[in-house]
Amino acid sequence: PRTIYLTRHGESEWNKEGKIGGDSQLSPNGVKYAIALANYINEQNIKNLRVWTSWHYRTIQTASGVQAPQERWKSLNEIDAGVCDGKTYAMIKREYPEQFAARDKDKFAYRYPRGESYEDLVARLEPVIMELERQGNVLVVSHQAVFRCLLAYFLDKNSEELPYLEVPLHSLIKLTPVAYGCKMEQINFPI
Ligand code: G3H
Repeated sequence: PRTIYLTRHGESEWNKEGKIGGDSQLSPNGVKYAIALANYINEQNIKNLRVWTSWHYRTIQTASGVQAPQERWKSLNEIDAGVCDGKTYAMIKREYPEQFAARDKDKFAYRYPRGESYEDLVARLEPVIMELERQGNVLVVSHQAVFRCLLAYFLDKNSEELPYLEVPLHSLIKLTPVAYGCKMEQINFPI
């Protein structure tokens, strides 16, 4: 049976500052994760592995040491936070209090002004999911909001749970199809 491997990018400079979105580089710890991930994946000798990343530097950098054919998918980019891109949650709460409250009330349907909602993200990911279903072994290197949507699909979680699913940094998720649904394993890398 094939396996789908999912991992967020390593810690980025903006993760360290608590800023959402953007297109920053990996932090020194993020680079350590990229090396640990590549060592782990390369030594597994996974048959016909393919690597998919988003268009962001931080995912491309994270996958750079993995020895397998790579593809970039714009649809795997992080949720677009629109006017809130580049802000910390504290800044959003201060500058856009009504937006902050609206998101808290219905996180799945809430759409950032000039950006996206989780609902939009689910629609954007539909072609990616279709193609993932047809593939063999794939390593997907993307972002937290994207993985919440993919995990909700593969693990059958509803739209209320979806925006709150935990997808930690520096951790590799393995999804293997079983009779009905998917088995999930998580490998944490101490960085
Ligand atoms: O940058 C955005 C995060 O990956 C998604 O976090 O939807 O919980 O704000 P959030």
